[in-house]
Amino acid sequence: MLCIPITANTTEKALQDAQEASQLADVIEIRLDYISHPDLKKLLAHRPKPIIATCRPTREGGRFEGPEEVRIKLLEQAVELGAEFVDIEHDSVGAENFQPLLQKGGKAKVIISYHNFKETPANLKEIYARLSDSPADIVKIVTTANDITDNLKIFHLLEAVGARCNVPLQGKWKPLIAFCMGELGQISRILAPKYGSSLTFGSLATGKESAPGQLTAREMLEVYHINEINGETSIYGLIGNPVGHSLGPYIHNAAFRELGINAVYLPFKVEDLKKFVQGFKGLKVQGYSVTIPHKEAIVPLLDGLDPLAREIGAVNTVVNKAGNLMGYNTDSTAALRELEEAVGDLKGKKATLIGAGGAARAIAFGLKKKGADVTLVNRTEDRARRLAQELGCHYRRFEDVTRIDGEVLINTTSVGMYPKTDVSLVPPEALRPGMWVFDIVYNPLQTRLLREAGERGCRTLDGLRMFLYQAAQQFELWTGRPAPLELMERVIRERLGVRGQGTGVRDQG
Ligand code: ATR
Repeated sequence: MLCIPITANTTEKALQDAQEASQLADVIEIRLDYISHPDLKKLLAHRPKPIIATCRPTREGGRFEGPEEVRIKLLEQAVELGAEFVDIEHDSVGAENFQPLLQKGGKAKVIISYHNFKETPANLKEIYARLSDSPADIVKIVTTANDITDNLKIFHLLEAVGARCNVPLQGKWKPLIAFCMGELGQISRILAPKYGSSLTFGSLATGKESAPGQLTAREMLEVYHINEINGETSIYGLIGNPVGHSLGPYIHNAAFRELGINAVYLPFKVEDLKKFVQGFKGLKVQGYSVTIPHKEAIVPLLDGLDPLAREIGAVNTVVNKAGNLMGYNTDSTAALRELEEAVGDLKGKKATLIGAGGAARAIAFGLKKKGADVTLVNRTEDRARRLAQELGCHYRRFEDVTRIDGEVLINTTSVGMYPKTDVSLVPPEALRPGMWVFDIVYNPLQTRLLREAGERGCRTLDGLRMFLYQAAQQFELWTGRPAPLELMERVIRERLGVRGQGTGVRDQG
């Protein structure tokens, strides 16, 4: 069930927001601590959905600064007026003010809540046991993820409580709402229904969040389809850093839905790759996309490699085969497919690559296999020299970029990508009429390099198809079914259009 918190600062605005929220939410949380003089009668009389009355004090991350008696009084009134739920912070319990509130005769179910804005402590089960040993009906435990693996603690707690086992229950068993806050905790908000959290929260709009890391309700429903997530939902996701602006969740979740596959694709912002890979094995994640900066670092952490990925030395796709994580590379095939579709036979063609990172490695490798004559040009010359030696191609000094000759020029770096779109590593005089110029950046689709190449009579290729093809092949490796290419392309174009040029990263995942 999805709850939208209302964070308006007047009764009137709160009612308006509640109306709007009622189109998406199952439950609405009225944050009384955001409203300076809340008109409870009005708020309750016009509520469009069941509500949770909450008046969070500053000590628990809320905005209420007044005396505790006033705060409790407000909640009592909400109960008397028929609020369906009332949220009481765990440290209010034991104080004599909790009992009278419950005896007010209303039908409200009491949620006893614990918030930790610093961390996700190790003793979550003890906290649950303590909170459930209270007169409350529902327990809410919300912590902060400082590392992506902190989410695992919450999932384990939810599973243990769901199975009614391994939890040292002193009081009665109570349903649990649990997730992590912060950007690193977002996956727990999305996976809440899979692990049995009674509720998850999404904001009405960007800027109306009531806690750090809250996604919008629309994103939860329309991108991640949280209403369709259940205990059987398979998990896939993108390992990278950053991942916040990736298009991966849009295309893969849309594709899963199109084919009726019960799966969800999540962004995993990973700093400590080893800790992540080991920790998340327990979640049985079925497949990963891998992007900057982990494409090479993930290789030794996998159980096996596809021959192509082994030869390239970089992985952008991981498939979980009966518990074994197998690495693949779909970047190389995707780029080569795009190039061959446009340019034709690449044998004997002279191709110059700008860059010498993971993407350059995959593309140069593919070009060499097709018999092209490859030259690498990179800011850090030594890196170009080493990669050239490894792959058996040439390299040039960065300053010599104007002396490029040949039929194909490819930018494999992120230069020109949003938000710094007005830069190009290739001076216009290096761009000769008739030359093919391929930029693997897809946001914006027309980079400065491609614009200048077009102006000088070159034939241009943007990064959309490479992104699309690598994602489609990835999807096929995971599911064994043909990827809905048209849908995926439409989603990419829509996202790039909807957000203007604002998608953020060049992302091969
Ligand atoms: P990826 O795996 O996506 O290729 P990477 O391994 O970090 O990412 O490689 C990025 C490439 O872009 C490198 O070739 C990098 O040049 P250096 O080796 O000199 O770092 C290149 N690159 C990134 N930003 C650049 C810039 N502002 N100017 C020139 N080259 C740049």
